[in-house]
Amino acid sequence: MSKIIVIAGATNGIGRGIALDRLRRGDVVVAVGSSAERGARLRADAEQAGAGDRLDFLRADLSSIAENDRVIDHVTARHPAIDALVLTANRQSAERRETAEGLEFTFALYYLSRYLLGYGLRGALEASPSPVILNVAGAGITAGAVMWDDLQLERRYGMLRAQLQGGRANDLLGVSFTEETGGTVRYVMYHPGFTDNGDFSHLPRPLSALVKLLARFAARSIDQVVPPLSGLLDTPPLQPLTAVDRGRTVPLTLRTFDPADARRLARLTEELLASRRTPR
Ligand SMILES: NC(=O)c1ccc[n+]([C@@H]2O[C@H](COP(=O)([O-])OP(=O)(O)OC[C@H]3O[C@@H](n4cnc5c(N)ncnc54)[C@H](OP(=O)(O)O)[C@@H]3O)[C@@H](O)[C@H]2O)c1
Repeated sequence: MSKIIVIAGATNGIGRGIALDRLRRGDVVVAVGSSAERGARLRADAEQAGAGDRLDFLRADLSSIAENDRVIDHVTARHPAIDALVLTANRQSAERRETAEGLEFTFALYYLSRYLLGYGLRGALEASPSPVILNVAGAGITAGAVMWDDLQLERRYGMLRAQLQGGRANDLLGVSFTEETGGTVRYVMYHPGFTDNGDFSHLPRPLSALVKLLARFAARSIDQVVPPLSGLLDTPPLQPLTAVDRGRTVPLTLRTFDPADARRLARLTEELLASRRTPR
């Protein structure tokens, strides 16, 4: 039976690969990305695959709380039930920058958007028979940390530091979401490993050329990475929460999944949202 799948970050890389794969299989895909050009390219590819009528491209800046709320409203107005939410939106920023709502960009895009979409679409997910959230980030990596006393990285910003904080925050999000929902929606935290997404232009100059070169020899292709992820959408794991690092199951006893830290981050996130969110 065909599924309804929402993909946040569907216009490039792994998200785009999953979008096209699912469209070819007959699913309906709500694809979110910030670039109109990339959205048009996805649309053209969907049409070529004879699936243009099953693609709903929604242009939105997921680093904005208000824009995430708009995406949630768009999806829930059209689909009372959705089968899967795939979270792949991310972008590196060499310099610290703030969103219109005054949040550090990587925190807002890589972590907070996933928090908002998961909870915002919870009802629609719970209305489907076997719902799953696929959070593609860095499960299994233990480097980096959530900077409890400087979540917005105001005192010490670094691109890698921000990315690693986002990854660790997503690990904790999986744990707290599952605890909060009691496992009504299966949650999979997935690390794809080094993958050639075809665009490293957002990295600072010398690094982007190096990573592009490295990707040619050492990275996995989108075609290699997508099938196991797509398989998880077809057959979600039986357990409420699963962590997978390049195909290997990661034990949830890893310190990066600490339940007390997960509750602490969820609490801080709710406090942050209470002060920054525009009432809907
Ligand atoms: N590639 C790797 O080597 C690797 C390794 C480990 C983990 N991961 C994780 O896997 C996930 C997918 O990675 P990827 O390499 O496939 O990423 P990617 O090719 O860079 O794609 C990122 C997606 O996010 C969207 N996006 C970026 N900024 C956005 C914004 N402000 N609002 C809405 N959408 C936005 C992009 O679309 P627009 O340009 O249209 O906005 C694009 O569709 C990420 O979470 C990444 O951290 C990747």
